[in-house]
Amino acid sequence: MIDIHCHILPRVDDGPRSMGESLTMLRKMALEGITHVIATPHCNENLPLFRKEILGHVEKLNSGIARMGIDVEILPGSEITLFNIRRYRKNFERGLFCHLGDNPKYSLLEFPWQSDRVPKGALELAQWVAAQGTTLIVAHPERTPYLRDNRDALHALVEAGAWLQITVDSLIGTNTPVAQTVAEELITQYPNIVLASDSHNFNRCSGLVAGYDAVSERFGAERAQDLKTRANVILQHLAPSPWRVL
Ligand SMILES: [Fe+2]
Repeated sequence: MIDIHCHILPRVDDGPRSMGESLTMLRKMALEGITHVIATPHCNENLPLFRKEILGHVEKLNSGIARMGIDVEILPGSEITLFNIRRYRKNFERGLFCHLGDNPKYSLLEFPWQSDRVPKGALELAQWVAAQGTTLIVAHPERTPYLRDNRDALHALVEAGAWLQITVDSLIGTNTPVAQTVAEELITQYPNIVLASDSHNFNRCSGLVAGYDAVSERFGAERAQDLKTRANVILQHLAPSPWRVL
């Protein structure tokens, strides 16, 4: 299993506070069968974390994993928040962003939590990104007020080719009841859904099995497998990395 959205890098964003905490989380994840974790630190106005810096952090964590003999691999990525269309496009064109697996085939995009900070022209931007050959994966729309309240806007993003990432905690009800309801609605309505943990620390580390089990119970085993397969597709589009053993 691959977790495509996880704040696993120590002391980088609001994720784990130490290497020890990262490794404890990873040990737990490996035990439930997670083999790959894409590190997705925040990349936003307050914390503009770009590819160059993220690659170094990922390498360091992979070294720690190797020392501890944990059977999991960290891949580079980031959760890019869309505040400013022009700046996003400029950073994208300059190759500054760290897309999922360090490959621009898939990119994780978050909409601002405050609806009034969502820039005008987000749809046009999503269409532009799709035209570059990149599939946008919209982070946790079931938790993002703007997307929850503007289903037409969400629908248009999907029409433009975006996938939707649902967070396990939303599905199992540990976020909010609204998030759970919307998560289920979106899984019912849209085919291109992927699950991820969006873990930040050991207490917020629900893994993936609980999520796939919930999908299996409510939507059938076939749908759970479909979601797993879709997330695994990202593994086929990884940039070659020095630490990867094929
Ligand atoms: Fe996140």
